[in-house]
Amino acid sequence: MSHSGLKDRFGRTVNYVRLSVTDRCDFRCVYCMAEEMTFLPRDDIMSLEEIAQVARNFVSLGTRKIRLTGGEPLVRRGILDLVREIGSYGLCDFAMTTNGSHLPALADELRKGGLHRLNISLDSLNAEKFHAITRTGTLSQVLDGIDAAREAGFEKIKLNTVVMKGRNDEEIPDLIAFARTRNLDITFIEEMPLGKISEHDRGLALCTSDEVRSIIGQHHELKLTGDDTGGPARYYRMPDSSIRVGFISPHSHNFCSACNRVRMTVEGRLLLCLGNEHSVDLLQILREHPGDDELLREAMIAAMDLKPERHHFSSKGDVEILRFMNMTGG
Ligand code: 5AD
Ligand code: SF4
Repeated sequence: MSHSGLKDRFGRTVNYVRLSVTDRCDFRCVYCMAEEMTFLPRDDIMSLEEIAQVARNFVSLGTRKIRLTGGEPLVRRGILDLVREIGSYGLCDFAMTTNGSHLPALADELRKGGLHRLNISLDSLNAEKFHAITRTGTLSQVLDGIDAAREAGFEKIKLNTVVMKGRNDEEIPDLIAFARTRNLDITFIEEMPLGKISEHDRGLALCTSDEVRSIIGQHHELKLTGDDTGGPARYYRMPDSSIRVGFISPHSHNFCSACNRVRMTVEGRLLLCLGNEHSVDLLQILREHPGDDELLREAMIAAMDLKPERHHFSSKGDVEILRFMNMTGG
């Protein structure tokens, strides 16, 4: 079945779905989780079959692009089966966001299973700082993961760095040098006020994209590209490198008018916006009417009417959304 695509009330076409496959993670990044987290009970999370059913129906409604997120997707048992299943749908783009720690073991199989692209989080190249930010992560493991991903031959690998003043802002030039020598794109992200954290004051730690750009500008010329992935990032290039440097600036740049995406939490809640609570419980529909694809698709189409026009993140760092990123799907 082909379909002209999901449309919302503001004329935006939704053809990109981000599926969270677990709320769990082997890291506890300070901006993403509290130190002590309670994770969801098994009965409340979608089975891999249920996730695949949702994915398949989105594809039949015009979805061209799927990203698997978490938590950390690679800690979910059976993840390779899900990748192989979705990898068989013939998507234009099939990607995953990962912390990289399990890539030494899994990169090859993920690529063979049909995954096109990886985004790997990397906030520091200093082992101690890396450990301080991730609380439980080991830098060398992630660096090995990045190498494994490069060897596995992904179409594209992008690094993601959340920049926080006093934690990793001094490492911006090193991170750029790292990305340049490995020929990897890198995106710098302003911390978003998702979930209540106690480690730092988000207002004080906020390092805006303008600040990051001016730090890079001391070493390299940056030219804005017209590249538009329909996403929130703006991309720049340097004259002497083929990599792209992206900036995601929820505080200083409102990107909502071009939003083409929705997210599904591992509880089966379809979130219509990262910065709003509007959602539809798809898992309830799945479990009350097993195998009823038509009903599921009707719910997906109806959900588009709930997609808000924009997010309302403020730069003061106050929490506006109580859900953590691990519950949202990074
Ligand atoms: N603000 C910005 N980005 C976040 N991430 C997680 N929590 C936040 C937050 N509060 C992003 C990071 C990480 C990915 C999984 O999600 O980029 O790499
Ligand atoms: Fe895990 Fe990613 Fe959250 Fe860090 S940001 S705790 S790696 S899900």
